Amino acid sequence: MPTPLRVAGDVTVPGDKSITHRALMFAAAARGESRLRGLLPGADCRSTASVLRALGCAVPELPADGSEIRVQGRGIGGWTAPAQWLDCGNSGTTARLMMGLLASRPFACTLTGDDSLRGRPMRRITEPLMRMGARFREAGAPDRLPIEVVGGRLHSIHYASPKASAQIKSAVLLAGLGAGVPVSVTEPMLSRDHTERILRALGETVETEDTGAGVRIQFHPGGRTLPPLAVEVPGDPSSAAFLVALALLADEGELRIRNVCVNPTRTGFFRLVERMGARIGMENARTSGGEPVADLVVRPAPLRAIDVGGDEVPDAIDEIPMLAVLAARAQGETRITGAGELRVKETDRIAAVADNLRAVGVQAQELEDGMVVRGTEAPLAGRVRAFHDHRIAMAFGVLGAQPGNAIEVDHPEVVDVSFPGFWELVRRITGR
Ligand code: S3P
Repeated sequence: MPTPLRVAGDVTVPGDKSITHRALMFAAAARGESRLRGLLPGADCRSTASVLRALGCAVPELPADGSEIRVQGRGIGGWTAPAQWLDCGNSGTTARLMMGLLASRPFACTLTGDDSLRGRPMRRITEPLMRMGARFREAGAPDRLPIEVVGGRLHSIHYASPKASAQIKSAVLLAGLGAGVPVSVTEPMLSRDHTERILRALGETVETEDTGAGVRIQFHPGGRTLPPLAVEVPGDPSSAAFLVALALLADEGELRIRNVCVNPTRTGFFRLVERMGARIGMENARTSGGEPVADLVVRPAPLRAIDVGGDEVPDAIDEIPMLAVLAARAQGETRITGAGELRVKETDRIAAVADNLRAVGVQAQELEDGMVVRGTEAPLAGRVRAFHDHRIAMAFGVLGAQPGNAIEVDHPEVVDVSFPGFWELVRRITGR
């Protein structure tokens, strides 16, 4: 018998990735000195910072310890044409939200990214922005980066988005902000609403209304230059999800993760694992910078299989790989559907998770829009591929930490995209 796994400690996770991107963009679009603390220093957010610098914004290096930085904003009107292409690295959020902000600028510039990002669809963003009057030129393959954003005069739009996607919604809201024109977006259900929350905190009017068939977000820009912001970025629930999963799979111990963003559009994973039999304590609930925040407390729990359907996916979209890997240790067969968006993330996450599960000895079947995973108690062993995807690496890292399993992740360093220090933290809380 392997030695039982104890997962215990009182930890924090790095700042929220979605909020960090937005805090940097808003600080650069505001006029005056913004103070930002707790920013995620991961590679994706460093891409946003360097894109903003290339546009003439004075954004300091992102400190490794999340300490405060000050950004001297000159207003979006002070942005200048970049000398080179804007490299968004691996970050879809950087590329897509920047397209919204850049659509109304009076200069042209070209956005590009790494191989993974250049393989991801972009017309979902350029299409609504073109309806507002923006002009784009695809410089490579259709629907893909590199894309030149050709400046244009934008007008108002009512956009019915086919997907609950915060990147689509935010691109339209930010285009409205940059151009000073009212916009509304209807989405099938509310996607993460950090953009709306920051806009409101800056004194802008953003209304959210249930239409019966979806959610309509209306934004009437106030027409003045944005004031500077003071933001304390809470811990990323998507990063916390990996530690929660690790603690659930342990044999003993209790893990406390402090200061995690528990915005309801981000906590779907915690609700789903509770349905699998876990109990996730949320203590010390408070509001910080317009976002709900709490400390999570989690102990090991036997898990049972569940069915996960369409409506439950958007609030857990980035955590579905971890959920599917947890299903390998749940009793019964877990079925995930309505998650076709996973095929166009940093990698095809449906294929990546199913392939890797099979590589370590788990029965997993791909569906067009999800997968079926059969739980097992057998020791799991094999080499898995990260496919340049941080969340795939971490999900299998968690499974690999279980006693008796021998799982090697081919490129563990890719976790730096969203969770620098992940492997050290796993070693610290498992004592191995
Ligand atoms: C994000 C939105 C989501 C999410 C991504 C971050 C954001 O993408 O998967 O990791 O910060 O707006 P979609 O908008 O494509 O669902």
